Amino acid sequence: MPSPRSFLFLLGSARTGGNTETLARAAAEHLEPEAAQEWIRLADLALPPFKDLRHTGDGTTPPATGPERTVQDATLAATDIVIASPLYWYSVSGSIKNYLDYWSGWLRVPGLDFKARMRGRRLWAVTVQGDDDPAAAAPLAGTLRLSAEYMGMDWRGVLLGCGSRPGQVLRDDAALAAAKTFFTPETDTPGIRH
Ligand SMILES: Cc1cc2nc3c(=O)[nH]c(=O)nc-3n(C[C@H](O)[C@H](O)[C@H](O)COP(=O)(O)O)c2cc1C
Repeated sequence: MPSPRSFLFLLGSARTGGNTETLARAAAEHLEPEAAQEWIRLADLALPPFKDLRHTGDGTTPPATGPERTVQDATLAATDIVIASPLYWYSVSGSIKNYLDYWSGWLRVPGLDFKARMRGRRLWAVTVQGDDDPAAAAPLAGTLRLSAEYMGMDWRGVLLGCGSRPGQVLRDDAALAAAKTFFTPETDTPGIRH
């Protein structure tokens, strides 16, 4: 028996009740019951802007505290990390980008072993865009695929929906159909699915 999966959903929209969260929750409904789920709305976390300390002092990053510690602990507790970001300027939203920038600091926290501990964990993405053309999400998919590769993580691909106003993604029948099987462990096509 494989050990139960533990999902961390990072919500990156700059509004509540948006399409990306709707699509992510539609996909999460089909997770196996034993899978744990934690949802973090980055807009509510008040994570400060990332500071690059690589070439300051001894180049290490101090241990995380406050909201940084909250999201770091959640990241390290998850077997599966889901970046639920609206498509903003063809890529991830600013709050998601800020979260990912923190990974760079966490690589340099003495004793944390962030890279070694993240190796082999799965990275997924859910996104919704206003554009009808799925190619618009290619930079988002590329950013996350390459980041996963850098970290030695298992890139599991993007669930893509279309919609502009909140709720519109519920009219995207193809995305809702793809959501039903998106998190299936054996899915072997980590591209963009919609
Ligand atoms: C700052 C910003 C940038 C956006 N950039 C894009 C874009 O590059 N391509 C696109 O198709 N839609 C773009 N959109 C539209 C959103 O992707 C779309 O409205 C989506 O439904 C928003 O997700 P949400 O409902 O989860 O907030 C943008 C919206 C905002 C607010």
